Amino acid sequence: MDEMRILMAYTDQPNQKEIATYEANGGYQAIRQAIPKLTPEQVIEMVKQSELRGRGGAGFITGSKWGFVPKNISGPKYVVCNCDESEPGTFKDRFLIEKDPHQLIEGIILASYAIQAKQAYIYCRGEYFEGIAILRQAVKEAQAKGYLNQKLFGSEFAVEIIVHPGAGAYIAGEETALLNSLEGFRATPRLKPPFPAIAGLYQKPTVVNNVETLCNVVHIIKNGVEWFKGIGKPKNTGTKIFQISGHVQKPGCYEFPLGVTLRRVLEAAGGMFPGRKFKACYPGGSSCALLNERDLDISMDFESLAARHTALGTASLIVMDDSADMVKVANRLMQFYQNESCGKCTPCREGTRWMVQVLTRIENGGGTFSDLKLIEQVCQDMAANSFCPLAVGAAPPIVSAVQEFKGEFEAYIRRNPKADQRPEMHVSYPYL
Ligand SMILES: Cc1cc2nc3c(=O)[nH]c(=O)nc-3n(C[C@H](O)[C@H](O)[C@H](O)COP(=O)(O)O)c2cc1C
Ligand code: SF4
Repeated sequence: MDEMRILMAYTDQPNQKEIATYEANGGYQAIRQAIPKLTPEQVIEMVKQSELRGRGGAGFITGSKWGFVPKNISGPKYVVCNCDESEPGTFKDRFLIEKDPHQLIEGIILASYAIQAKQAYIYCRGEYFEGIAILRQAVKEAQAKGYLNQKLFGSEFAVEIIVHPGAGAYIAGEETALLNSLEGFRATPRLKPPFPAIAGLYQKPTVVNNVETLCNVVHIIKNGVEWFKGIGKPKNTGTKIFQISGHVQKPGCYEFPLGVTLRRVLEAAGGMFPGRKFKACYPGGSSCALLNERDLDISMDFESLAARHTALGTASLIVMDDSADMVKVANRLMQFYQNESCGKCTPCREGTRWMVQVLTRIENGGGTFSDLKLIEQVCQDMAANSFCPLAVGAAPPIVSAVQEFKGEFEAYIRRNPKADQRPEMHVSYPYL
């Protein structure tokens, strides 16, 4: 399967971030095609029919989410673009906003028209200094051209976009924590339901979408539903930007139709270093279970990866060759989740800290075989009893490392002269 650059069609062009170049390359045509020729309901229907699924990790059908927003109500509604992007291994949103910011602005205008929002926010990871500056400049240019803050093409619709720097925490990317942060509160998740479509920003109906999701909308409106559905696989329509980091020769962003094999994506990224062998990868950012060399021909789509007890997530492949030490990998990742736990609920706050202690003890030669069972049990309890999906995502990367590479953990444990010499581990929950 060949690379297919739709969202990345012009990202190599140095001036693409300028509005003149974006327009010369067909930019801001989709809003002209839609507003006011299509009704907001027709735009929602097109996005629904396209079967576009959210690119922020969960893969929810975008058109359905937009359809949940109440119609014909007075008072504000909001579109919030989630550009917090703090999942380890994930860097596609940064790439899109730095290389082609107007594509996102056009997508936000379409989403705002569809739900009739007059205000939209881009909540951007605070460390993306350059991205924030580029977005602000692009908003200024779009405003000067009359695409923002003014009624569009003879319609009654106008929208304002505000770029808001994030608060420096992974949990701020969880949509309800993001809304709290945007309101000026600490970024901790809210209880759902109500979902943001009903009570979101300032308790008003709000659509929260990922950067890549919103960029896709531009091309659906421009090229039509059937065109979009012709790319990828049923239920997995369109392309996906795969971000590849770790032990490959050419790390970076690669856009393929959904359903490409893992092998093909690795090949595009230049493959492994000379003399090295593929060992494992996290296929969807860090919050999912590992794939190993037996999975090289797996189809990279939502259903195939779920069937393998892992996830497409953000399609961020963290690749490891045979030099990777899986005990260190598991410990390092759990330290990330410990640091990023917001502390609101006990299983996550204490569970992640406890797991770091156990993994550090194993790494330092003080582990026991029963520690392996303990890891599985605590991870299972943490995932099942925590308040938000951060803890659910913290378990599979660690448990799958223990289960897939048990021998490496046992080798560390054997360094402990006091370790129970009876290896035992119950594999009752594949990757949780
Ligand atoms: C801990 C955590 C962090 C998240 N970080 C992001 C993020 O940085 N960007 C993002 O789009 N979604 C993130 N999500 C998912 C959002 O909650 C939400 O599902 C997404 O923004 C919806 O957009 P989509 O439907 O376009 O995918 C995160 C979820 C969790 C649990
Ligand atoms: S699961 Fe973790 S991140 Fe989520 S609310 Fe509980 S403590 Fe916070």
